[in-house]
Amino acid sequence: MIKLQDIVKSYQMGKNSLTVLKGINLDIQDGEMVAIMGPSGSGKTTLLNLIGCLDKATSGKYYFGDKDVSNFTGNELAELRGQKIGFIFQTFNLLSKLSALANVEMGMMYSGGVNRERAKEALEKVGLAERINHRPIELSGGEQQRIVIARALLNNPEIILADEPTGNLDPETSESLMNLLKEINGEGKTIVMATHDYQMIQKFPARKIICENGRIKDVVNDDEVIDFENSTFNDRYFALLKRTTDKELQNRIGRLVTFHEKGSFLSLGSPIDVPKEKIKWFTT
Ligand SMILES: Nc1ncnc2c1ncn2[C@@H]1O[C@H](COP(=O)(O)OP(=O)(O)O)[C@@H](O)[C@H]1O
Ligand SMILES: [Mg+2]
Repeated sequence: MIKLQDIVKSYQMGKNSLTVLKGINLDIQDGEMVAIMGPSGSGKTTLLNLIGCLDKATSGKYYFGDKDVSNFTGNELAELRGQKIGFIFQTFNLLSKLSALANVEMGMMYSGGVNRERAKEALEKVGLAERINHRPIELSGGEQQRIVIARALLNNPEIILADEPTGNLDPETSESLMNLLKEINGEGKTIVMATHDYQMIQKFPARKIICENGRIKDVVNDDEVIDFENSTFNDRYFALLKRTTDKELQNRIGRLVTFHEKGSFLSLGSPIDVPKEKIKWFTT
C-alpha cells in the first residue's frame, strides 16, 4: 500500500542543512500494524509526517497505493489526506471549551460536513458513549486520546498514523489504548505509529522498525533493538535488562543511567560502558 524509495529529508537551518532521513526504503502492506521505534530526535515524527503527506521529502519516491505522490501539489496531498489518512497526533489538540462530541464534529468540517450520528458512532466505537457531552478537562488523559482516535476514524481512512499515541499515559491506560488500536487494526486498517515506549510495544504483535542515525531497519529479533555491533560487553545481559518487568532489574537500569551520566563506568557483575543513546531505549 505504501512504498518509500530512497527518501531523504533535510532541514535547512540558516546556512546549515540537517539531514534527518538519509535514504529510507520502506514497504508497508495493507492491514499491517507497524511501530517505528527509536530514540528521541531520530526522525520518527519526520518520517510519519512524510507518510502522512503533511510534508514533502527532499528527494526520493513515495507511492501511496498505485499513485506516485512524490510530485503531488499541496492541494492534491490535502485531498489524499482527507480521503485516506487518519491522524492521531498529539499536536492535534482538542478544543477545551467544546464537548467530546463537538470536538469530533470539528473534524468533519473540513471534509463533507458535520454528521452528528456518525460522530456519536465514532465516540461509541472508542468507548466514550457515556462521555459525549464532557469537555476535555472533564476527561482523563486516556479518554482525551480516545476522542482523538474517534476523530481519526471519521472518514473511514485506509491508514492511521499515530505519533507517540501513549506518550503521556500511564502504563495501564497505554495498554488499553493499544488494545483499541489493535482492535481497529483487526478490522483491516493499516496502522503506523511512532513510539519510544519499548516496554509497551513489545506486548503487541506489531512489526517493529528501528529508526536510528537517519536510517531504518526491521527488527527481526528483539535483541536487535539495541545495535550491539560496536559494543564490547555482554549483550545477553542487556537483552535481559530491556525485556524485564522485574523491579530490581529496573532499579539497576536506573542506576546504570545515573552512573553513565556522570561519565563513569559501572560494574554490574561485568564491566560495562554503554553509549548514552542506547541506554535511552529503555529509559525514556
Ligand atoms: N521543522 C524542522 N526544522 C528543523 N529541524 C527539524 C524540524 N523538525 C525536526 N527537526 C529535527 O530533526 C530531527 C528529528 O526530529 P523528529 O522527527 O521530531 O524526531 P523524533 O520524532 O524521533 O523525536 C531532530 O534533530 C529535530 O531537531
Ligand atoms: Mg517525535
